[in-house]
Amino acid sequence: MIQYSQLQARIDAFLSHFLKQYRQQSAACQRLENAVRYTLLAGGKRIRPLLVYATADSLQVNLDNADYLAAAIEMIHAYSLIHDDLPAMDNDDLRRGQPTCHIKFDEATAILAGDSLQAMAFDVLSQTPAEAHKVVKLIHNLATACGMNGMAGGQSLDLQAENTAINLDQLQAIHSAKTGALLVACVTMVTSMCDHLNEAQKLAYQKFAEHFGIAFQITDDILDVTSNTEQLGKPAGSDESLHKSTYPSLLGIKQAQQKALLHINAAKDFLNQANANNRALLSLTDYVLVRNH
Ligand code: IPE
Ligand code: IPE
Ligand code: MG
Ligand code: MG
Ligand code: MG
Repeated sequence: MIQYSQLQARIDAFLSHFLKQYRQQSAACQRLENAVRYTLLAGGKRIRPLLVYATADSLQVNLDNADYLAAAIEMIHAYSLIHDDLPAMDNDDLRRGQPTCHIKFDEATAILAGDSLQAMAFDVLSQTPAEAHKVVKLIHNLATACGMNGMAGGQSLDLQAENTAINLDQLQAIHSAKTGALLVACVTMVTSMCDHLNEAQKLAYQKFAEHFGIAFQITDDILDVTSNTEQLGKPAGSDESLHKSTYPSLLGIKQAQQKALLHINAAKDFLNQANANNRALLSLTDYVLVRNH
């Protein structure tokens, strides 16, 4: 089975190489470039690239093609974290054990680093070595996942839900958009490249990813309560101090954990419907529940 540590090293090397090309091409502002590099190469679990690679592995898609998808999504993710931490949003000063981008640099640079990463994501995706019509589909998929109907929209709803009482359906819609959409794209971008998959199989992969995405954010909400800042590398208790609507705040920890388990089991059921060759994806799915940061 594919090794996660090798794949994390693989995406790090790809991202690093891609950034070097940028430096050679332009007289880019050094401060902005440093801020982009600071966040993009600062580690993290790389769960989104792992999900891309594990899906590619299950469908015998060449990892040399998957690199471009994985890099694009990780760039969008990095941008979303920079903006998420800004004072206007969650106002957090620690990320992956380091000062957040706006603390290390300044707010304007952090905003621009996010903007740059978003543009860079579509640049790298447009260079995917695949047929042109498939690349156009990839670009459309990622744009939808990170825009108004995806991550950015979900982030807006998340902020509007601070200090308010929302119901479980509304909370699930927020989680699906702000976090789920990008995780779903990790899977559907790969399946969209596979001519041999029928529509039912593609749908099963998508449903798998939808449940995976919701479970991932529920776990994030739980860890915010149960873990500590050192372990998380980001401020524990941030959600409570901002009066965020979360699964633990709506349901309590125990029921939130049960919800996460429910979604993980649903994810695995869809995965087994989609494809038998899914060991890497199954183990990544199990990891969502047991992760400690
Ligand atoms: C944190 O994502 C933000 C969420 C969408 C929950 P990750 O937990 O994947 O963060 P890193 O990349 O590993 O730091
Ligand atoms: C963030 O959710 C989701 C994003 C789209 C970045 P959170 O605000 O809970 O993520 P953390 O806890 O700061 O990583
Ligand atoms: Mg947030
Ligand atoms: Mg946050
Ligand atoms: Mg959180």
